Amino acid sequence: MPIETLFPLAIYYEDLPDAAKHQQTLLDAVLQLEQSGAERRNYPEMAWTGDLHGVEQIHTNPDFAWIVGQVEQHTANYLLELGVDLNKVDLYIQRAWPIVSRTEQEVGAHCHNTAHISAVYYIKVPAEGTYDPGRLVFIDEARVNEVSPGLGSENTDIIAEDNYLNQLQAAYLPIEGRLLMFPAKQRHAVTMNETEELRVSLSFDIVLTANGAASGAYEFLTPPPSQWQKFKSGGLS
Ligand SMILES: [Fe+2]
Repeated sequence: MPIETLFPLAIYYEDLPDAAKHQQTLLDAVLQLEQSGAERRNYPEMAWTGDLHGVEQIHTNPDFAWIVGQVEQHTANYLLELGVDLNKVDLYIQRAWPIVSRTEQEVGAHCHNTAHISAVYYIKVPAEGTYDPGRLVFIDEARVNEVSPGLGSENTDIIAEDNYLNQLQAAYLPIEGRLLMFPAKQRHAVTMNETEELRVSLSFDIVLTANGAASGAYEFLTPPPSQWQKFKSGGLS
């Protein structure tokens, strides 16, 4: 009996051909930033994330110029695939930061609420083997096939067999040198790095705004920052 599946989540990826050439430069830059960042603010079992430690502007750092160029190019490709008219939007990198996940560290579930597209680049991934290098887990919040809410939860537990129609998570194995993009509102997490090696990635928050004649004319597209006016009072009366 056939089953149709609709509404696929579009996850773009590209294995960058020059990845190996740039790996050491990027790795050195990230580890240097980690050293010079703010005092550690999160729990030891959480990966070091630059945005929590004063390192969230790597897109302005010349050491990251190559990957920033790649992110720009592939964001355009991704949006073209999604049918977006690139003549009507400006694209911005709003924030960008490194993530260093050491042994037994992970990243909790979150979405990137201030952005529209999330990009991840894997600088260094522990070799695949007995131990898991930490997977990017996409969490299905829409639960489109959960015909009775909570069906598969441990409080109900009436799913007899896990299959592709009742999964609420998909775990994506990171690939060194791969650039990945997905909607920033898509909830995700990174599982524990079970290896003894470093797992190092970069995260980019990308924003679309209206441009040209479309500026400010669309209810659901952010007007360009050039049209914004900061409170002259600074918001204080
Ligand atoms: Fe994230």
